[in-house]
Amino acid sequence: MNMTERPRRLRQSRAVRDLVAEHSLDAKNFVYPLFLQDSSVKLAPIKSLPGINRFNNESILGELEEAISVGVKSFALFPKVDENLKDAKSSFALKSENFYLNSIAKIKKHFPDVCLFSDVACDPYSSDGHDGFVDPNTGAILNDESLVILSEMALKQAQAGIDFVAPSDMMDGRVKSIRDMLDKHQYTSVGIMSYCVKYASHFYGPFREALDSAPKAGDKKTYQMDFRNSKDIYREARLDQEEGADILMVKPGLPYLDILYRLSEFSDLPLSVYQVSGEYAMLKALALQGLAKESDLVLESLMSFRRAGAQMIFTYYAKEAAKWIKNS
Ligand code: PBG
Repeated sequence: MNMTERPRRLRQSRAVRDLVAEHSLDAKNFVYPLFLQDSSVKLAPIKSLPGINRFNNESILGELEEAISVGVKSFALFPKVDENLKDAKSSFALKSENFYLNSIAKIKKHFPDVCLFSDVACDPYSSDGHDGFVDPNTGAILNDESLVILSEMALKQAQAGIDFVAPSDMMDGRVKSIRDMLDKHQYTSVGIMSYCVKYASHFYGPFREALDSAPKAGDKKTYQMDFRNSKDIYREARLDQEEGADILMVKPGLPYLDILYRLSEFSDLPLSVYQVSGEYAMLKALALQGLAKESDLVLESLMSFRRAGAQMIFTYYAKEAAKWIKNS
């Protein structure tokens, strides 16, 4: 055969393949989401996420240490709040006895070099299970009223020592209102990672079970995005960038690679992607049934995010994947 081009020449050995590889996976690009609860129980396994636990403010330190030892440097924290502490105004979010705020301070004291992302949204604290305030008469999610608590929440987290506040609520104008609040109190170096492109997805089920945070009535479709659309990502990104976001997120990950790629062509900000709870559960199920080798499967899916343009990847697999990378 007379062929001038033979693509296989660049695949013929591991050394050549490694040489020409465009993308790589490194533990330093992972952000490890961790669930916190106020309890004497050290580890509470989460049924919907096999292998993932909720930690108390002691055991969380051990988990961080283990992850740090395999190269993970960044973490995202989510609180599981007792039902009897929830109310319509999400008031526990701002209380000085809030274990979540205390844990942020404690973690930063023990591990000053890690990068910590918070969660700014009402749902873990809200008796309604929504990300913003709910009008008791109409059931509507109130945008501007919610901005007040969201920016106060962000300020408390900044005071506790967070590196990046991460609004996941999808209210309009929240990045600006948080930025103004932080700057007014001299927290100009606390960053904002905006859950900028967040779809009203069916892949969040296991997370809502982990935090007991599902909406009590209705759904989140009046604030999270409609997955039939893609053009509004540009508007969301433009607004968040103009309002002062430092990092933009796409969420979920795998079913939205097209969105991630488009955003990476459009925005000059660093991008993150969230491999959400339903994706984790899906990969886990495949692995547990013996239908794929878990490490191969997971590293392939994580690589797809890098290829699509994400600098950082939020993944429940962060610690495990970092070990696999280290041993490969
Ligand atoms: C809510 C929030 C959600 C996730 C992160 N922050 C769920 C939701 O919008 O109901 C989902 C993460 C996951 O599924 O892993 N503020």
